[in-house]
Amino acid sequence: SDSLKVGLLGAGVVGSQVARILAEQSGELEARVGRRLELVGVGVRDLTKERPGIDPALLTDDLESVVDRSSVVIEVMGGMEPAGALVRRALSRGSSVVTANKALLAEHLAEFSILADDNNADLYFEAAVAGAIPIVRPLRESLVGDEVNSVMGIVNGTTNYILDKMVTSGLEFDEALRQAQGLGYAEADPTADVGGHDAAAKAAILAGLAFHSDVKGSQVYCEGITEITKQDIQSAKAMNCTVKLLAVARTNGDQVAVKVHPAMVPFTHPLASVSGAYNAVFVTSREAGELMFLGPGAGGAPTASAVMGDVVTVARHIVRGGRTTSSSSYRQRQVSDIGDT
Ligand code: NAP
Ligand code: HSE
Repeated sequence: SDSLKVGLLGAGVVGSQVARILAEQSGELEARVGRRLELVGVGVRDLTKERPGIDPALLTDDLESVVDRSSVVIEVMGGMEPAGALVRRALSRGSSVVTANKALLAEHLAEFSILADDNNADLYFEAAVAGAIPIVRPLRESLVGDEVNSVMGIVNGTTNYILDKMVTSGLEFDEALRQAQGLGYAEADPTADVGGHDAAAKAAILAGLAFHSDVKGSQVYCEGITEITKQDIQSAKAMNCTVKLLAVARTNGDQVAVKVHPAMVPFTHPLASVSGAYNAVFVTSREAGELMFLGPGAGGAPTASAVMGDVVTVARHIVRGGRTTSSSSYRQRQVSDIGDT
């Protein structure tokens, strides 16, 4: 049968790993989808860069042409524009989109979801929150028949890595940040990480899914870790605590409150042992009670794992029919207030 055309926008930390998996696992992926996934183009900015493992003939800086040739568009380029316009272009022509771009989704998830539904396309974004950890699907699908009351945890790998190294190895903030950047955890502009904005974007996405509301990243109260000193870490240690950057989203049914801020966490609390770039998310719901999700929250291969799970899912929908409705949640309830609940 014909191959399924896949376009890749971005070949950086995450995109290069997605391209590798598509090549290395092509037989397995074909068996799982029921059709061969054919990479038809890889959109980048700099055509002169060495990209081991990627066929140079696929590289282009004409990203619109990649979108226009693809039934599945993987957006791992980041940033608001042109990523936003490319996602709209893909969905408008009925192509399914898989994206890891939390900054973009935190402002446009409701809009994109309506666009996806109106054009009979899928929009999947497991990699946008907490890297490899399945948390988007559990909230969007597994728990959609329940009533989620709160979602909280560590959702930024870079800041968790920095704080962990400051506590366990006595590293300086700047050196720990450099290491996190070298390991591919940080955003292109790491102020998004250390300022808490990346976590705020993820918290907005989680709150939107959990509470069937349209929550924007810009509505989230946000305090990062730039003011945390070695002295703060020492003081926390003296009280048998560590410091973690927490994202907390709650609802009382009418109102939604979403915050990101550093907090002292007792060494005995499960969140205290979340080390390196790992993330952890706790969910409480009316029927299920308490759930905990733990795993690698950043990095090329772990994030590509989540991307590929989405690619197989949307590809199966194209091959066999079926689709996940995206927008009904956001249409259901407007956030009446973002404040303390
Ligand atoms: P990255 O290493 O900076 O890679 C970005 C890629 O997109 C590069 O290949 C770049 O091209 C291309 N690109 C960016 N802007 C472009 C433009 N205007 N035109 C053409 N190409 C453009 O970023 P990353 O770490 O892979 O992250 C990608 C996305 O995944 C972001 O949304 C990020 O938030 C998200 N994410 C990252 C992680 C992680 O651990 N790194 C985890 C979860 C989600 P060049 O190569 O030519 O520069
Ligand atoms: N910069 C992000 C982090 C990447 O450190 O968590 C994963 O979303």
